[in-house]
Amino acid sequence: MPTVMITGANRGLGLEFARQYGADGWTVIGTCRDPFNPGELATIEGDIQVHGLDVANHPQVDHLAKDLNGVAIDVLINNAGIYGPRNYKPEDIDYAAWEEVMRVNVMAPLKVAAAFAGNVAAGDQKKLVTVSSRMGSIADNTSGDFYVYRSSKAAVNAAMVSFAHDTADRGLIVALLHPGWVKTDMGGDGGDLTPTESIARLRKVIAGLGPADNGHFFNHDGSKIPW
Ligand SMILES: NC(=O)c1ccc[n+]([C@@H]2O[C@H](COP(=O)([O-])OP(=O)(O)OC[C@H]3O[C@@H](n4cnc5c(N)ncnc54)[C@H](OP(=O)(O)O)[C@@H]3O)[C@@H](O)[C@H]2O)c1
Repeated sequence: MPTVMITGANRGLGLEFARQYGADGWTVIGTCRDPFNPGELATIEGDIQVHGLDVANHPQVDHLAKDLNGVAIDVLINNAGIYGPRNYKPEDIDYAAWEEVMRVNVMAPLKVAAAFAGNVAAGDQKKLVTVSSRMGSIADNTSGDFYVYRSSKAAVNAAMVSFAHDTADRGLIVALLHPGWVKTDMGGDGGDLTPTESIARLRKVIAGLGPADNGHFFNHDGSKIPW
């Protein structure tokens, strides 16, 4: 069976990815910041391997890549992310907090992608996806606001399109995904979708990815989102 690696797999969408792939018989490499306290990730069924990883900690990323050297990964999911301060008046922005959001939402996915590209290239499926957000679409920004989160997701989209071009010759399929507005700690209770619904849809999108989809941005229903 294939292997999937998921960052931020201890709660929210990452946990649901782990649950669904695990239930389907995949080997799941689930990473979380505190491997001694992985929450529900420790209790889900299947071939689940838990590893500690703070995605913003580059030496930790390198260390895990060394530990997993030679392990083929069919699908790598850059899922871990933060929203940052929800105080959006331009004059009140907490710039230090914005830097942290950029470290977690932009630099970390690229660092993880670069560190594990060899594992993904060694997999049969060669898919590397990043959970972005429609909030990062500049074309879709018709209401303003949300400076910190929007800019982080727009930036990770830009970084991953470059990564898609730069790794195409190794056969990697790099895509950006929007999960919808989902009821998680980040999405809150008002979300349109449950994690079960969102992840079932995203897994279908991931399953359907082919070489022609390299460097594209997909909604959870499989349609393309404009940059
Ligand atoms: N929910 C939505 O409506 C929605 C919509 C669009 C996009 N997204 C994106 O979907 C992804 C998952 O979101 P979610 O709704 O599941 O959020 P969530 O419930 O807040 O969970 C976030 C996950 O990311 C992990 N994480 C945060 N910073 C990390 C770091 N430095 N290193 C490792 N793990 C870290 C968290 O781990 P800890 O438990 O250690 O904090 C947690 O596992 C994010 O990229 C988010 O931007 C969500």
